[in-house]
Amino acid sequence: MLEIKNLHARVAESGVEIIRGLNLTVKDGEVAAIMGPNGSGKSTLSYVLAGRPDYEVTEGEILYNGESILEMDPAERAATGVFLAFQYPMEIPGVATMEFLKVAMNAQRKARGEDPLSIPDLLKRVKQAAGELDMDMGMLKRPLNVGFSGGEKKRAEILQMKLLEPKLCVLDETDSGLDIDALKIVADGVNQLRSPDRSIVVITHYQRLLDYIVPDAVHVLYKGQVIKSGDKSLAYELEENGYAGIIEEAA
Ligand SMILES: Nc1ncnc2c1ncn2[C@@H]1O[C@H](COP(=O)(O)OP(=O)(O)O)[C@@H](O)[C@H]1O
Ligand SMILES: [Mg+2]
Repeated sequence: MLEIKNLHARVAESGVEIIRGLNLTVKDGEVAAIMGPNGSGKSTLSYVLAGRPDYEVTEGEILYNGESILEMDPAERAATGVFLAFQYPMEIPGVATMEFLKVAMNAQRKARGEDPLSIPDLLKRVKQAAGELDMDMGMLKRPLNVGFSGGEKKRAEILQMKLLEPKLCVLDETDSGLDIDALKIVADGVNQLRSPDRSIVVITHYQRLLDYIVPDAVHVLYKGQVIKSGDKSLAYELEENGYAGIIEEAA
C-alpha cells in the first residue's frame, strides 16, 4: 500500500530539514501506529504525505500502490484514496458540515467514475454514519469545525473518513484532547473502517489510544527517522520505559 524510502523533507520557507532519511512500509489491510516524542516529525510526515506545498521533498520516494505520489497535488492524492485527519482540523466558516460532506463525497465519486448521490441517498448515508459515531445530526447544520469542541472536531473527521471510503487513512494525534468516551467512539470508528484493502496509519504520542485501536505494527519516529519497528508489544514497552531507552539503543 505505502512504501516510503529514504525520505528527506524540509520546510520550504526556511529550508530546515525535518524528515531525515525515513523508511516505512505499510502493508494492505494493516493498521500501523507511528509513535514518537514531541517534535520528532510525526505531523510533518502527515503533511508531506498530503502534499502540502509548504514542505519540500529533497530526496527519496513515497510509493502508493507501487507508484510515486510526489508529483501529485493534494487533490490528486485525495482522489486516489489518500485521506488525512489532521491534529488541528481546519475551521471552514460559512460552509455547513452537511454541504461540505456532499461536495467531498461527490468529488470522490466523480474521481472513481461514479454518479453524484441523490439527496435522499446522501442523507441516508450521512445519518447512518453519524449514528454509528453517536453524533447529533443538528451539528451537521453548523459550519465545519467552527466552534466545535476538540472531541466534536475529531468525530467530524472520522465521519468524513467513513463517508469518503479512502484506501489509505492517516490520523495525526486523533486522541489529543479527547476524554475517554470520545476516545472510544473515535477508536470504534477507526475499527469499523478496518478492511483487507484499506491501510490505516495512526500517529500518536501516547500508548492509550492503542488499547482501543490495536495496531499490527508499531514504528518509533525520532528526529525524522524510524528508529525502531515492532509489533504492539513495542507500544507497551514505550509506555513503561519511555522513549529514552530506544533512542539510546538507536544512537
Ligand atoms: N514550518 C516550520 N518551520 C520550522 N520548523 C518547523 C516547521 N514545522 C515543524 N517544524 C519543526 O519540525 C519538528 C517536527 O515537528 P512536528 O512534525 O510537528 O513534530 P511532532 O508532530 O512529532 O510533534 C519540530 O522541531 C518543529 O519545531
Ligand atoms: Mg504533531
